Amino acid sequence: MKSVVTNPLREGLHLAPAPESSTMVIFGAPGDLSRRKLLPSLYDLAYDHLLPPMFSVIGFGRREWSHDEFRSQTKSAVSEFSRRKRVDGDVWKSFADRLFFCPGDFHSREGYDRLARMLIQVEAENAVGSNRVFYLSAPPSACPVIIERLSPVVLATSMSGSRGWKRVIVEKPFGSDIDSARSLNNQIHQVFDEGQIYRIDHYLGKETVQNLLVLRFANGIYEPIWNHNYIDHVQMTASESLGVGTRGGYYEEAGALRDMLQNHMLQLLSLVAMEPPVAFDAADVHDEKEKVLRALRPVKGRDVATCTARGQYKSGWMQGQEVKGYREEEKVRSDSTTETFVAVKLFIDNWRWAGVPFYLRTGKRMVKHGTEISIHFKRPPHHLLGDMPGAVDLEPNVLTIRIQPNEGVSSTFNAKMPGTSLHMRSVKMDFQYGIGFGVESPSAYETLLLDCLRGDSTLFARHDEVETAWSLVTDILNGWSELPVPDFPNYEAGTWGPSEAEEMLATDGRHWRQS
Ligand code: BG6
Repeated sequence: MKSVVTNPLREGLHLAPAPESSTMVIFGAPGDLSRRKLLPSLYDLAYDHLLPPMFSVIGFGRREWSHDEFRSQTKSAVSEFSRRKRVDGDVWKSFADRLFFCPGDFHSREGYDRLARMLIQVEAENAVGSNRVFYLSAPPSACPVIIERLSPVVLATSMSGSRGWKRVIVEKPFGSDIDSARSLNNQIHQVFDEGQIYRIDHYLGKETVQNLLVLRFANGIYEPIWNHNYIDHVQMTASESLGVGTRGGYYEEAGALRDMLQNHMLQLLSLVAMEPPVAFDAADVHDEKEKVLRALRPVKGRDVATCTARGQYKSGWMQGQEVKGYREEEKVRSDSTTETFVAVKLFIDNWRWAGVPFYLRTGKRMVKHGTEISIHFKRPPHHLLGDMPGAVDLEPNVLTIRIQPNEGVSSTFNAKMPGTSLHMRSVKMDFQYGIGFGVESPSAYETLLLDCLRGDSTLFARHDEVETAWSLVTDILNGWSELPVPDFPNYEAGTWGPSEAEEMLATDGRHWRQS
């Protein structure tokens, strides 16, 4: 697709090679993810002239849509959800001309035969070669059957006989426990090599998550103190103000531990804690992340009760409006025991992190929407100014990486208050991404879709990372199944979660940072 408007500043920031011509097949194209994220992100890439020179999209799904119907659905999705929130005439025209739709059921072979024929035709008519990306934006239960049926489509020979590359993007949740994740990995490996598989975790595409690596490895001041000698503990919070909305059916089977912690939060943790990779390439980064996940101390037996806290929201007030409790949400059982909040205390048993707790929490219907990582440093060894009149306890230094919203980094330090006596207070240095660079960041999906088209899997999850993360989470799930069911619902919507989460830190003489 050819886009006409370029953003010189963004171009200047993206020096990576242009992707090769290709076709992307989106399984589940009429679905919510495709409508809200995938198609608008592809349009935004087209707008910024970042898509391959020749690029086509084939939507696959159960609707009986014509190509034109798919185009008009995509247009409305773009105007609602693209970063620009509007459709630019010239960009849209060249984008829309390469959108096609193939009706088909995930289970019936007929649809896949039709897809293979359409793919070959689209590739020939649009001269896109036979580079193919298959995006599985489908319910987890449908992934095994899609993969099985996909094999002939992947291999379908183009009219020119050329053999392009083939890649598959798999959405989360990648399995529901260690066994299902392993079996899904095995199944995908029967059709694709690991190098062709892109397990997407959209948190890895967020600008500040990538900035975390730059902060750690492109600055000399942090790495020497990034260890147990200087760091007291680390906190990670991913709080959401929204409830489960229309996703109650899915969420009942998932819960916060599977939905957010197994993937997004453990991925963030591995980036915070990993050793410097040999190079910033996929294999080296994956190796280091996997080592961190492997070093996580399993949470089993009695530790499950002391190192985890779970919650479920009840009704409450948010921004002046009364909101429903989880059990009143659509497609949720009235006696549901699914957790909508989870907090865990983890240890990484390796040289760098020995004895440093990592506290992670995530939940729905919390006070506000925000994801941040805070590194809490140890206090100075001696309070030299402790005897001065008006001296207060020294606040430890905290480095906070705000992933969203107001992406940025801040650091607190103690400063003398103006005046003739030596009173001090903790103050903050703050860097805000938007203000600092004055340019809007691409969305996570833009970044990741483009990386996949370029063949760069650094910001995706490798099979062993996913399995190791599942192994930790499966132990917790097993531990929970042996404990009495908590007295759900146990936190009010619009709060920071259940008191158990506060108590978990209080026992260690700490408290959650309220951003
Ligand atoms: C998804 C979860 O992976 O991430 C959702 O399935 C959650 O339940 C979402 O709301 C949060 O993403 P973000 O980018 O809004 O923080």
